[in-house]
Amino acid sequence: MRPLRYAAIGVAGIAGAHFSDIAKRPNVEVVGLVDVNPESLAAAQARFPDAVAGADAETVLAATKPDLVSVCTPNRWHAPMTKLAMAHGANVACEKPMAMTLAEAREMEAVRAAADLVGYINFSYRNVAAFRFMRELIRQGELGTIHRVNAVYLQGWIGAGSVTAGWRNDKNLAGFGSLGDLGIHMIDAVRFITGAEVVSVVGQAVTRAPNMVDAAGKPVTATTDDNAAFLATLSDGATAVFETSQTAPGYTNHHRIEVSGERGTIIGISERPNEMAYYVGPTLTRYATWQGEIPWIRVPTGFMGTQKADGVALAVDAVRGLVTDYPKFADGVAAQVVVEAIDQAQRERRWVDIAGL
Ligand SMILES: NC(=O)c1ccc[n+]([C@@H]2O[C@H](COP(=O)([O-])OP(=O)(O)OC[C@H]3O[C@@H](n4cnc5c(N)ncnc54)[C@H](O)[C@@H]3O)[C@@H](O)[C@H]2O)c1
Repeated sequence: MRPLRYAAIGVAGIAGAHFSDIAKRPNVEVVGLVDVNPESLAAAQARFPDAVAGADAETVLAATKPDLVSVCTPNRWHAPMTKLAMAHGANVACEKPMAMTLAEAREMEAVRAAADLVGYINFSYRNVAAFRFMRELIRQGELGTIHRVNAVYLQGWIGAGSVTAGWRNDKNLAGFGSLGDLGIHMIDAVRFITGAEVVSVVGQAVTRAPNMVDAAGKPVTATTDDNAAFLATLSDGATAVFETSQTAPGYTNHHRIEVSGERGTIIGISERPNEMAYYVGPTLTRYATWQGEIPWIRVPTGFMGTQKADGVALAVDAVRGLVTDYPKFADGVAAQVVVEAIDQAQRERRWVDIAGL
C-alpha cells in the first residue's frame, strides 16, 4: 500500500487528537505542518521531525502534496484553508463548526463535490459508544416512533477565574460561541442518533458573561454567545429541546441526549461513554411507570467491537475507499443550516423553516 501523505493546518489543541487518530491506521506519513504560532509549530515539529513545517499553508501544501489535510485552525480559517487544500488536490478532515456561515459551508461542499474529494467533519461525539448504541436501538425500531428528544451540552469555563479569553470569545474568529462550539455537536448528535432532520426551529443565543480578561490580565469583552437554547421539530414529527451553556459552573464537558419513543426511553452522556440509561421494550413499557431513575446498563462490548469509531482515522479509511459511513461535509452543512436558522429566528422573533434557507 502506498503511504498516505498527511498534513495538518493548525497544530495545537484538537490537532493532537487528529494526530492520535491517524496513528491508529498503518502507513500514514505526516509530511506537512502549518501554524502561524511558532511555539505550536515547534511542539508539533518535535513530534514529527521529518515533516515540512511553516506558517504559510500554500508553501507547505505545494512542497508536500498531501493526500489528506486536517484543518484545525480557529473557525475563521476553516473555509479558506479547506478550499486551498482542495485546490492542491487534497482530501480534507475539517474541524467543526464547518464554517462561519451557511454560505461558506455550502461553498466548501460545492468545491469538494466538484473535485470529487473526501470531506470529513470532526463531529467527535459520533465516537461515543452510548450514542452509537442509541442510534442502533432506534435504527432497529426498538423504540418505535420517536416522540421527544432532549439534548443538553454544558460547560463552565467562562467565568472560571483560571480561564482567559481566546479566539472562541471573538465573533470575528469563531462566528458563534456556545451555539457554534457546542450546539453544533448537539445538532449533529441528534441527527446521527435519531436519523431525523431538523425541519424548523425557534431559539436564542445570548451573552451572559461578556467581561473576561486576556492572558496578560487585560479586560476583554466577549463578542460571542455563551448560552443558547432552541426548540425544534424533527422530520419524524418529534419535538426536540436543546440547551447549551459555557457558563454553568460545575460542568466541564457534559453532553447528554435523551430520547423517548412509543416503546421506551434511552439516555446517553458523553462523560459516561460506555453506559446508557435504558428502559425499552413492549413488556417493560406496558407497566407504564418506573419509580425513580431509569436504570443504567453497560453498552454491550460485542456491539462496541463492531464499531468503527476511531475519529479522524475514518477520514483515512474514506480516502482509501474503505468506509462510506463517516461525518461528511454534507453533515457539516446540515448542522450549519440549523445554527443559521436559530440566528434568524432570534433576529426575527419567529419560527424558521429549514427548507427556506
Ligand atoms: N471536534 C471537537 O470535539 C473539537 C474540540 C476542540 C476544538 N475543536 C475545533 O478545532 C478548531 C481548533 O480549536 P483548538 O481548540 O484546537 O484551538 P487552538 O487555539 O488550541 O489551536 C488552533 C491553532 O491554529 C493556529 N492558527 C490560527 N490561525 C491560523 C492560520 N491562519 N493558519 C494556520 N494556523 C493557524 C493557532 O496558532 C493555534 O495553534 C476549532 O474549529 C474548534 O471548534 C473541535
